[in-house]
Amino acid sequence: MTAIEQIAAIEADARATLAAAGGEGALAAWQSGVFGKGGSLTAILRGLGALAPEERKAVGAAANLAKQALEAALAERRETLKAASLAASAADALDVTLPGRPLRRGRLHPVTQVRREILDIFARLGFATVEGPEVELDEYNFGRLRIPEHHPARDRWDTFWLDEEVDGRQPLLLRTHTSPMQIRHIDTHEPPIRVAVPGRCYRYEATDATHEWMLEQVELLAIDEGLSLANLKGTLQEFARQMFGPERRVLMRNSYFPFVEPGVELAVDCFACPGDNPACPVCRGAGWLEIMGAGMVHPEIIAAAGYDPARYTGFAAGMGVERITMLKFGITDIRDLHANDLRFLSQF
Ligand code: PHE
Repeated sequence: MTAIEQIAAIEADARATLAAAGGEGALAAWQSGVFGKGGSLTAILRGLGALAPEERKAVGAAANLAKQALEAALAERRETLKAASLAASAADALDVTLPGRPLRRGRLHPVTQVRREILDIFARLGFATVEGPEVELDEYNFGRLRIPEHHPARDRWDTFWLDEEVDGRQPLLLRTHTSPMQIRHIDTHEPPIRVAVPGRCYRYEATDATHEWMLEQVELLAIDEGLSLANLKGTLQEFARQMFGPERRVLMRNSYFPFVEPGVELAVDCFACPGDNPACPVCRGAGWLEIMGAGMVHPEIIAAAGYDPARYTGFAAGMGVERITMLKFGITDIRDLHANDLRFLSQF
């Protein structure tokens, strides 16, 4: 191989390696492999001195051309690599000026909102929140609340029964009200007692605009020395004002529940009309809205729990959360609340 052919081979080889060099490190290695101290082209240039003058001129010129060409190729390769890396980082760049994609946020169900509001109000009045089982013993749901097996009051709570038993005890049912927690709580706590009991209840109902087979209640129970009907009325009046507005008046009328004596039902004056508008969607002209049953805890219940009813008295109340939700938001059909239609629910 002549010296000129050798230069051509070095150049061809160097171009091939350069084309494969993928980064700054590889370029530097290539550079010293060609132009460095022990570089392939350096060896040729060093050997020029040993050549005859005629040959030296031709080989020197060829070597210089190859050197310039390879230097230019190096610069070009460097540019190409730089452009490629810029393009790559532009491709996965984050444009912080783009508007974000909106997140679909949920909201609390209207019944949940109202349940929380009820419990907040009672918490401020000193009532702790406690919960009880939805599957309940007949004994707590009826018997110890003075509703014996053939008592007509059971007709009002015709119910879902279960075939199971717990710890050998039965019959079991889906509780028809939260009142059984009155018994469970006085069995396990000493007066003074002040609790609010939220929870689901189930009744064998034919559903219509104001009845569902599942409903939520909040039960209230206070037991202490010297509690009277005045304390019940004051507590419920304050509740009604905070729930429905400071102008609200409450009406207590006589009612009957076997586990209270006396028993009352509580109504608030209509907050949507002056009380005389037959077209009012909330009271339909009645002027008063019934919102709960209540009364003084029956002395037999206090005695059965081991306390002297001459010393300890108490009051209890039970309200329907859906009912209060409907009144508060002007909802006219209770079935809308659990139909899970977002077009309905997202209005509240
Ligand atoms: N448990 C009764 C009902 O579901 C309401 C009530 C509770 C009445 C407490 C008086 C005292 O209708």
